[in-house]
Amino acid sequence: MNDLLLIAVYAAFGAGAAGLLGWPAVRALRRRSVALSLFAVAVVTVLAMASGTTAVAQAMFLSEHDLGVVMTVLAIGAVVSLLAAAVLGRHAVSGSRALTLAARTVGSDGGFTAPAQPLSAELAQLSAELSATSARLAESRKREQTLEASRRELIAWISHDLRTPLAGLRAMAEALEDGIVEEPNRYYGQIGAEVERLTGMVDDLFELSRLQAGALHLTPARVSCYDLVGDALAGADPLARERGVRLLGGQVDLVPIEVDSREVSRALGNLLVNAIRSTPADGVVAVTASRQADEVVLAVTDSCGGIPEADLPRVFETGWRGGSARTPRTVGDADGGEHSGGGAGLGLAIVRGIAEAHAGSAAVRNVDGGCCFEIRLPAAGLAV
Ligand SMILES: Nc1ncnc2c1ncn2[C@@H]1O[C@H](COP(=O)(O)OP(=O)(O)O)[C@@H](O)[C@H]1O
Ligand SMILES: [Mg+2]
Repeated sequence: MNDLLLIAVYAAFGAGAAGLLGWPAVRALRRRSVALSLFAVAVVTVLAMASGTTAVAQAMFLSEHDLGVVMTVLAIGAVVSLLAAAVLGRHAVSGSRALTLAARTVGSDGGFTAPAQPLSAELAQLSAELSATSARLAESRKREQTLEASRRELIAWISHDLRTPLAGLRAMAEALEDGIVEEPNRYYGQIGAEVERLTGMVDDLFELSRLQAGALHLTPARVSCYDLVGDALAGADPLARERGVRLLGGQVDLVPIEVDSREVSRALGNLLVNAIRSTPADGVVAVTASRQADEVVLAVTDSCGGIPEADLPRVFETGWRGGSARTPRTVGDADGGEHSGGGAGLGLAIVRGIAEAHAGSAAVRNVDGGCCFEIRLPAAGLAV
């Protein structure tokens, strides 16, 4: 038993010396190919065994003959283990090369193509990660392309919307200049109206760009829904009278909200103008405000007969206008189609933007005989 302990001590010294010598080599190879490292580990193992055995022989525990036998066996084992290390190293290297090549396909149109050959567990994990990254990249690129396309479309639409009134203004100005106008006052009135419409459009664009850039600074204050709705109804009254539409504002709860009242009034005003324009004469437009859980819901319901189901998800899109009022058209298109409201399809995008800027939301649904636009805003504390 004592002999065995001694043999273990000698062997440990011998092998330890080989290990200490081999350690710097293994460390130095850390940044080199994994195949080289595997090979180095096999070499260090063989050397450790050889030097351990030699140490035991030096201490006379092994005869010359037995040492020869053990060394021969060790030499054969060394060949096999070095071969195994080489084969394993080759496999690891070829797997990592294949993955490097495959990594070049990350983000390409065809998406990431994983190597066909079997990979080690770590490389397979890396490959799965690359595949997920590639999918995320493709998704965000698609989003960006859609955004870019809609931006281009919007610019085309807006250019068209600006071009038509500008052409009208130019024609009127030229006619006035030439003195061929019999009723100049009518022209002045029309010019004023067109300029007002253009100003409104530019104003909407500016508001929308601030909303989308997150540059709209809100000045929240505690207000009562009653006042908000009352002001919006008063503002929309002239248009409603002109169109013969009845405005109802009876169901307004006395709930307080903490909002930028100028912005929320603007949103309500947009909804009311849309509702009045879409409602036939003698129709009704109703505004309600109610508290639902921790939200305040401002709703504008009209008698437009309902929005086609297919259009419902699109109404809040920037630049979208319903019906035949606007199909995507190019800047050069000169149909001059009269849009009933003269808006540029920005009104509802602004409504949604304002609602979201207040951590709320905007939605639409069809109801009996018409549609109902809702703005949901977080309610303020209970006391008014
Ligand atoms: N209350 C409503 N009833 C029916 N359709 C509506 C209503 N409000 C909006 N829409 C539809 O949504 C479109 C987009 O509205 P909006 O963004 O305000 O732009 P615009 O008023 O300039 O057309 C309108 O063209 C219209 O087709
Ligand atoms: Mg509108």
